[in-house]
Amino acid sequence: MLKKLFGSPVGKKLVTGITGLGLVGFVLLHMVGNLALFSGDQAYNEYSEFLTGMGPLFYLVEAGLLAFFVFHIVTGIKIAIGKRRARPVGYDRYQSAGAPSRQTAASRSMIVTGMILLVFTVFHLISFKFGPGGPGNDDVAYLVAYDGGEPIRNMALLVRERFASPLYAFGYTAVMLLLILHLRHGVWSALQSLGAMKPSISGLVYTVGGLLGAGTGIGFLFVPMALYFNLI
Ligand code: HEM
Repeated sequence: MLKKLFGSPVGKKLVTGITGLGLVGFVLLHMVGNLALFSGDQAYNEYSEFLTGMGPLFYLVEAGLLAFFVFHIVTGIKIAIGKRRARPVGYDRYQSAGAPSRQTAASRSMIVTGMILLVFTVFHLISFKFGPGGPGNDDVAYLVAYDGGEPIRNMALLVRERFASPLYAFGYTAVMLLLILHLRHGVWSALQSLGAMKPSISGLVYTVGGLLGAGTGIGFLFVPMALYFNLI
């Protein structure tokens, strides 16, 4: 059953689609959570502490997230390799098959934007999650106590420091633009693979996918830009 699922082209598209939609859910929640910084450093730190303080439930969600990432990446790479094998020479000049195929720069570059997002995610985790004050890196300068309570991680301080640098602020901005491209085509493609789409509503789903992708990517830009330009 599992071999059939991962072995067939339709199965691979299904796995990529389901895990992709799960990851969209995470990215959307993550983007909204980041906006807590606009309510102040304490709100942001307490939100981060609330999540990590959930203990086993948090680790379970993290393990699920990791599994989704791995399956999404492995099946995504297999699909890209399959496409190359089917047309090893490549096209002289690529021409879209028109509206119903939804072939855009985003659809053809899914593997490239996906790979850049993978490298970004590793770098991102090292910078923030495993950065100063994080697991195995108990730098006391990145701890803060509120109202006489236990010290918690001062994630807001780390985020502020990182996005004061133009390299971080504009590097993140560039990656978020690629995220918009990846999500825009990804949401449409996932819904199509799941058969949730009749041709008559394909345009609508493409628009909703586009808005969701653009909204998530744009939402992520608020924190780096507001910090870099000293607006909060
Ligand atoms: C401006 C954009 C972003 C900012 C400011 C940001 C900030 C952060 C911070 C501060 C953490 C650490 C949370 C904690 O340990 O309490 C984190 C974790 C994480 N971020 Fe981001 N993030 C951004 C965009 C993204 C994007 C686009 C992705 C995915 C493609 C992503 C994936 C993750 C993952 C997987 C974690 C680890 C979650 C966990 O296991 O706790 N982030 N992010």
